[in-house]
Amino acid sequence: MSEHVFGGDWTREKLARVRKYLQAYTMIFHANERAKFFTTYFVDAFAGTGDRMDSNIPGVIESPLLDVECDPDLIGLQKGSSRIALEVEPAFDRYLFIEHSKKRVAELEKLKDLYPSRANDIQIERGDANTVLKNWCQKTDWRRFRAVVFLDPYGMQVDWSTIEAIAATKAIDLWMLFPIGQAVNRLLINRQPPPEGWANSLTRTFGEDAWRPRFYKKSVQQSLFGEEEFETKIANFADIEAYFLERLGSVFESVAKNPLLLCNSRGTPIYLLCFAVGNKTGAPTAVRMAQDILRP
Ligand SMILES: C[S@@+](CC[C@H](N)C(=O)[O-])C[C@H]1O[C@@H](n2cnc3c(N)ncnc32)[C@H](O)[C@@H]1O
Repeated sequence: MSEHVFGGDWTREKLARVRKYLQAYTMIFHANERAKFFTTYFVDAFAGTGDRMDSNIPGVIESPLLDVECDPDLIGLQKGSSRIALEVEPAFDRYLFIEHSKKRVAELEKLKDLYPSRANDIQIERGDANTVLKNWCQKTDWRRFRAVVFLDPYGMQVDWSTIEAIAATKAIDLWMLFPIGQAVNRLLINRQPPPEGWANSLTRTFGEDAWRPRFYKKSVQQSLFGEEEFETKIANFADIEAYFLERLGSVFESVAKNPLLLCNSRGTPIYLLCFAVGNKTGAPTAVRMAQDILRP
């Protein structure tokens, strides 16, 4: 069962925990003789600007399905995961920052001047995180590389096929912000299953349509027109969390059992910070570290 973090602190909490993991990760890869063989990557697939994000979050209101509402906790509190990663010591060997906004990519480019000693190791890709990540997973020689990937979307932008591609490398540790309340629970309307477009988005997120019998119960009721079949929502946040962890567990070697539930100032769950690891040899240590870090 997840731990809860309430209020505006959740962005700081999220980044502080990921930072702790990155620090522990690079320490191991610098200290351990066998791990030293690998070239390490940090991948920030929804990189933002590299710095604190302000209240001007385009697309947020226009696309309620995939993005967030203008929740006050989400405004003005974003800090830069890319910069956090660049400041981790010992350093990663390489950094890949992916961002689809042209304006934000221009900001990310400035990080090369801000961190001149890392400039040659920073690669910035403008594009859709799913496309860039899948391509990168496929073309990287995983006999020589190891990576931490951070997926920090606003909403349901991560396709299940991307998670599968990451897991299939068997070389990546994944930190992911799953939009449990921000998007998924909202699409799961109460008295009937979601309309087709929303249902397709849920299937794209979970990688299968088995969410429907998990989250909805069929019943037959008498109506004016005789017997009618109804489907009503039976899932709560714990059920959605359990199902997503199960899905991660179906493709990764191991998954942290205590994801962190991040709530807004009204106590409503918005995101679930999850960790999963693909490498069999590294999995016990990685999950132990992540589970420690995820504790309140
Ligand atoms: C929550 S913000 C990331 C914050 C960042 N991790 C940080 O700590 O500063 C999400 C970012 O993802 C970008 N984005 C949204 N959809 C995307 C996609 N499909 N591919 C790549 N970037 C995307 C947005 O432009 C936004 O900058």
